[in-house]
Amino acid sequence: MSPQANAISNLFILTIIISLLIIVGISGVLVYSLIRYRARPGQQGEPPQTFGIVRLEVAWTIIPFIVVTGLFGATVKAMIDSSPGQISLNGDAARNPNRMTVIGHQWWWEIRYPSGVVTANVVHIPVGQRWVVAVESADVIHDFWATQLGPKIEAVPGQTNYIWLEADKPAVYHGDCAEFCGAGHAWMLFDVVAESQAQFNAWQRQQLRQPVSPRTLQPAAGYTSSEVRAGASLFTYYACASCHYLRGVNGTGTQPSVDYAPNLTHIGSRSLLAAGAVSNTPAHMEQWLLNPDTVKPGVHMPNFQLSEAQARDLSAYLESLR
Ligand code: CUA
Repeated sequence: MSPQANAISNLFILTIIISLLIIVGISGVLVYSLIRYRARPGQQGEPPQTFGIVRLEVAWTIIPFIVVTGLFGATVKAMIDSSPGQISLNGDAARNPNRMTVIGHQWWWEIRYPSGVVTANVVHIPVGQRWVVAVESADVIHDFWATQLGPKIEAVPGQTNYIWLEADKPAVYHGDCAEFCGAGHAWMLFDVVAESQAQFNAWQRQQLRQPVSPRTLQPAAGYTSSEVRAGASLFTYYACASCHYLRGVNGTGTQPSVDYAPNLTHIGSRSLLAAGAVSNTPAHMEQWLLNPDTVKPGVHMPNFQLSEAQARDLSAYLESLR
């Protein structure tokens, strides 16, 4: 679904075809020899023994050498085609406007855009555009893998690795953490939303809007229901903002360079909750708030022992942050 994924897929198919030709050739000669030179009734003793046929030995040395060298060349080409290469190494990546940072956390993904947008678990890219992704980690080794869009790359603490992200067609592509990273590893998923440039720009503008009033925590759309109003006070009462950044509540200016927990600034606009453990619906949000561990075993989010009414109010508030 992208040029780099295509390069990897083509290499795979080429390798399979060459391997098939080899296996068919070798098996063919083997089967032919078994039949042609089988022992026949009335034959006595060993057949005549032959040693050393130079032409044959040279052939079976040179042919595999050519095959292996050819596959090596094709592999190097696929590696070049599917890697950010010099652009990240010579420092251009830092100046590239199409550059995002993805930070692996136990167990979710933080995504930061040069525009100032900070989000979690749902990556947006304009279709047909090449984005450099600087992959980092906040704790242990994770592995960022948008399976249909390219190779995987490790998220290593204290080191930045680079990868391209590009999609040929508008769609939602699923991604995984591909390195075992603890109890929540299986639920460390993400989506890549590839959309038109206009849709991407609209999404970015919406993400940059101030979602709440700094003092009252009132959502930009106002208190659309009594639940939303009650949820805003619960958000303060339970000090959700001591782990989660919510622009306007924790501050209006520069956000921390790494979030401690998923940024909630526009949580209501995201498709996934708990890094893909469930879809983002008010019912799932309620269940999550009531007991996060039942949605995602091992998660670091504590159980605040909320009543069902409190979970419903807080869910309504969070879902209103769009
Ligand atoms: Cu992160 Cu597995």
